[in-house]
Amino acid sequence: MPQQAAPLLIRPLLRREAAALRDLRLEALRLHPEAFGASFEEAERMSAAQFAAQVPEGPPDAIFGAFLDGAAAPGLGTGTVPALCGMAGFFAERPAKTRHKGSLWGMYVRPAARRHGVAQALLQRVILHAREVARLEVLRLTVVEGNAAAHRLYAAAGFETYGIERRALRLGPDRWLDEELMALDLRRG
Ligand SMILES: CC(C)(COP(=O)(O)OP(=O)(O)OC[C@H]1O[C@@H](n2cnc3c(N)ncnc32)[C@H](O)[C@@H]1OP(=O)(O)O)[C@@H](O)C(=O)NCCC(=O)NCCS
Repeated sequence: MPQQAAPLLIRPLLRREAAALRDLRLEALRLHPEAFGASFEEAERMSAAQFAAQVPEGPPDAIFGAFLDGAAAPGLGTGTVPALCGMAGFFAERPAKTRHKGSLWGMYVRPAARRHGVAQALLQRVILHAREVARLEVLRLTVVEGNAAAHRLYAAAGFETYGIERRALRLGPDRWLDEELMALDLRRG
């Protein structure tokens, strides 16, 4: 089990927090272009207002934020004010035949907050939300092949690989990345 070094709060982000979300998301895409389907360049062109429009206004969809006490997690740069140090997005399918399924996207924890169980807490919150609030049966995600840290996180929570998408992401004229498609059966305890 990862050590929980500081008080951690996980809750859905609000539209008025779009500027902080934008900062976090741009940092994620800049530092880890190989981990995400979205590109830094495209996201950077979006204003805080456009980010705000992407924040779901209510369930079932949500972007969960993780807030750590800045004093207890030095390096986050916010003193004693709880700092947004991580995020995980969730959306549920709407069509009748697929609305038993949902997806997790955009899992990210800032470097200064890593290895304290933040991602694990975000993941457990999304799983609980998908099962209890959205009442889903299947939670899906994708992880780029070779992202060992993320893969371990998801596998430990019970996600299983059900396929590989070859050339899922194109990073340049001669560079592609494959993605593992993973799913968690929410009907299991
Ligand atoms: C992957 C990531 C979200 C993990 O965040 P974190 O808060 O440090 O993870 P946690 O502390 O909750 O760790 C939970 C588990 O994940 C795995 N894990 C996390 N970091 C790891 C690392 N550097 N190496 C190996 N396993 C790791 C471990 O299984 C860990 O459990 P353990 O500590 O009992 O071994 C974070 O490193 C990150 O944001 N990476 C860049 C973006 C990214 O890859 N996002 C995922 C996209 S699919």
